[in-house]
Amino acid sequence: MKRRPLLVGNWKMHTTVLDACHLAADIAKTCVGLKDRDVLLAPPFTVLSQVAHVVAETGILLAAQNVCWEAQGAFTGEISPLMVLDAGGAAAIVGHSERRQIFHEDNALINKRVRGALAFGLVPILCVGETLDEREGGQTFKIIEEHIRSGLAGVVAADMGDTVLAYEPVWAIGTGQTATKEQAQEVHAFIRNLVAGMYEKDVADQIRILYGGSVKPDNIDALMAQDDIDGALVGGAALNAESFERIIHFQEI
Ligand code: PGA
Repeated sequence: MKRRPLLVGNWKMHTTVLDACHLAADIAKTCVGLKDRDVLLAPPFTVLSQVAHVVAETGILLAAQNVCWEAQGAFTGEISPLMVLDAGGAAAIVGHSERRQIFHEDNALINKRVRGALAFGLVPILCVGETLDEREGGQTFKIIEEHIRSGLAGVVAADMGDTVLAYEPVWAIGTGQTATKEQAQEVHAFIRNLVAGMYEKDVADQIRILYGGSVKPDNIDALMAQDDIDGALVGGAALNAESFERIIHFQEI
């Protein structure tokens, strides 16, 4: 079964308002008439609403790069799901490896974020992935299973249609060292199988599983040709309109 491809640009901690508006406008141009795939941008919080104006009516969706579970309150440094919606966002990246590694977010906290996003109608993009040590130690599947089971704890089947998963091996993020298409496919198939066991086959068949980690114009086609890879979560190559355009317009080979 083929799912509707989803190409996500994660801008991380890059762009001023001006840079962001230019980049979004350039990306919007290349999305005119795009019918068979979804494009989603995750700019920094500070530029989300300006970017929302630039991409209005283009079909491009927006995400926050993280989200809290509470609507408001004393949570210094956090952003609420209502704020994301208010700024024009429809989704939120949750559990990105930079949040896990640098800011020590653990599976329990990430699960609160996933459920918080869903409670307010935001699509959570739950990121999972092993470190190089874990891969070399033969722990990849164990870690992925932990990330998925705890990240989705308490998420009911009815909410799984509004959930996106992203496999991002930590060793491939920002390193230029992409997982091979075989390595990526192997983990994607494992995740889909796991979801089938936790929910039902239908849920697993429908859920989109993105690959992230040094996705570039020259490897997107081969990755997207894999049965269980339904899209990409792109960092570095999404900051350049030309390279992201090539990624958006991937052709399976
Ligand atoms: P990268 O980042 O494409 O620069 O490797 C991907 C990500 O962190 O989502």
